[in-house]
Amino acid sequence: MNITVIGSGYVGLVSGTCFAEMGNRVTCVDIDPVKIEKLNQGIIPIFEPGLETMVLKNVKNKNLFFTTDLHEALQNSEIAFIAVGTPMGDDGSADLQYVLAVAKSIGQSMQKRLIVVDKSTVPIGTADKVKATIQKELDARDSDLQFDVVSNPEFLKEGAAIADFMKPDRVVIGSDSEIAFKKMKQLYSPFFRSHDRFITMDIRSAEMTKYAANAMLATKISFMNEIANICEKVGADANQVRIGIGSDQRIGYSFIYPGAGYGGSCFPKDLKALSKIAKENGYIAQLITAVEEVNDTQKIVIAQKIIARFGEDLSGYSFGIWGLAFKPGTDDMREAPSIHTIKELVKRGAKIKAYDPKAIEEAKEHYLKGVQNIKYVTSKYDVLNDIDALVLITEWKEFRSPDFEELKNQMKNPIIFDGRNQYIAYDLQNKGFEYYRIGK
Ligand SMILES: NC(=O)c1ccc[n+]([C@@H]2O[C@H](COP(=O)([O-])OP(=O)(O)OC[C@H]3O[C@@H](n4cnc5c(N)ncnc54)[C@H](O)[C@@H]3O)[C@@H](O)[C@H]2O)c1
Repeated sequence: MNITVIGSGYVGLVSGTCFAEMGNRVTCVDIDPVKIEKLNQGIIPIFEPGLETMVLKNVKNKNLFFTTDLHEALQNSEIAFIAVGTPMGDDGSADLQYVLAVAKSIGQSMQKRLIVVDKSTVPIGTADKVKATIQKELDARDSDLQFDVVSNPEFLKEGAAIADFMKPDRVVIGSDSEIAFKKMKQLYSPFFRSHDRFITMDIRSAEMTKYAANAMLATKISFMNEIANICEKVGADANQVRIGIGSDQRIGYSFIYPGAGYGGSCFPKDLKALSKIAKENGYIAQLITAVEEVNDTQKIVIAQKIIARFGEDLSGYSFGIWGLAFKPGTDDMREAPSIHTIKELVKRGAKIKAYDPKAIEEAKEHYLKGVQNIKYVTSKYDVLNDIDALVLITEWKEFRSPDFEELKNQMKNPIIFDGRNQYIAYDLQNKGFEYYRIGK
C-alpha cells in the first residue's frame, strides 16, 4: 500500500518505519526541514531502540521516504496518517492547531480517494473537525473527491516503541465506514500472525479509549505513590506492600512501583486534556485532578528527602544524578521528574553532576538549558568524584548493579537517594551506604 505519515516524531517515524518494514511504500512528511534533511542523510533525530537499523534498511529497500512536501507525498497515497503533536494549550486543553493545519493541507492537496487517520491523541469530536476542515478545502477547489476520517489511537511506549508497534496488544479502529474498516484491517493484518487483535468501534469511543487508557495508567502510578507516602508515615515498606497487592490478579504487578512521579509527553498533557474535555461537557473529573495533584507533589519528593537530610540551604553541597530521561530507553525529557528535582536542588545552591545514557543533549539544549551549576558527564562513574550524595532518578538498567566499591571510593559520603524504590541492588545499608528511598 502507498501510505503517507504526516509528522515524523516519535509516533510518526516509528509507525511509518514499521509499515515500511511490512512492505508498504511509506512517505514520512514533516514541516521541520532540518529533521527531514537529517533523516535523508540517515541521521535519526530521536533515540528509540531498534529504530535506526529499521529506518536505514527500509530507506535502502526504497520502502521509506522522507520529505517536507505533503502535496507530492499525497499524490499516490491511499491512506494518510496524522501523527503531529497535540501539546497542552495554555488552558490545559489539547492544542489542535497542528492537526487542523494538516487537515487543511490534506484538503488542498489530495488527488484521489483517501482514508485520513487520526493517530495523534485528540479530544473527542476531533474527527468531525478534521472532516469539516478537509471538506471545506475540497469545496473551495470545487472537488467531489471522497474521503473517510478514521480514529486509530496509538498505544506504543517510548523505549519499546518498535516492539509495541510490531506486536501490538490491540489496534483500535474507530470509523463509520465499512470501506475504511476493511482497508485498515488490510494494513494492520501483517502485524498479527497468530490471531488478530482488532478492536473496532465508533469514532468517538476510539478517541476516548486513548485518554481512558492513559488516565488508568497514570492513576495506578499516583495511587501507588500515595500509598508509598502513607507507608513512610506509618512505618510500612511500600515495596513489600507492592508485592502483597500485586499478587492479586485484579490488581496485577505492573505500574505499581513507587517512584518520583510520571512524566513524558503523554500522561501529563492527556490527563489535563481529559479534565478539560469533561469540564466542557459539564462534568468535574475529580479523580483525574487528584491523580495529577499527587503526581505534581511526587516529582519533588526526592528533593524533599535531600533537603531533610542536608538542610534547606544546599550551597556547598554537590549531588550526582543518575538518569535524566523521563523513563529508561528514550532520550525524551518532556515533563521528566529529573527536571523538577534538579531545579529544586540548584535553586537552593547545590551543584549537580548529571549522567544519562541518551538524554544529555536534550537536557543541555532544551529542558535544563540555562540552569546554572550543572555539569554533564559521559559515564555513570564520572558523576561520583567528590559528591555528597548520589541520586537515582531514571531506572536505566546500567544503574541496577553498580560497582559499590567504586562508589564508596569516589563519593565524599556514601549516601544514595533512590527515586525508583529499591532499584539499585538490595542491601545497601549492609554495604555501608546511607540509603533513602521512596516508600520506606
Ligand atoms: N510519544 C509517545 O509516546 C506517544 C504515544 C502515543 C500517542 N502519542 C500522540 O501522538 C502524537 C504525536 O506525538 P509525538 O510524541 O510523536 O510528537 P513529536 O513532537 O515527537 O512529533 C510531532 C512531529 O510533527 C511535526 N509537525 C507539526 N506540524 C506539522 C505539519 N503541519 N506537517 C508535518 N509535520 C508537522 C513536528 O515537526 C514533529 O516532528 C501526539 O498527539 C501524542 O499525544 C504519543
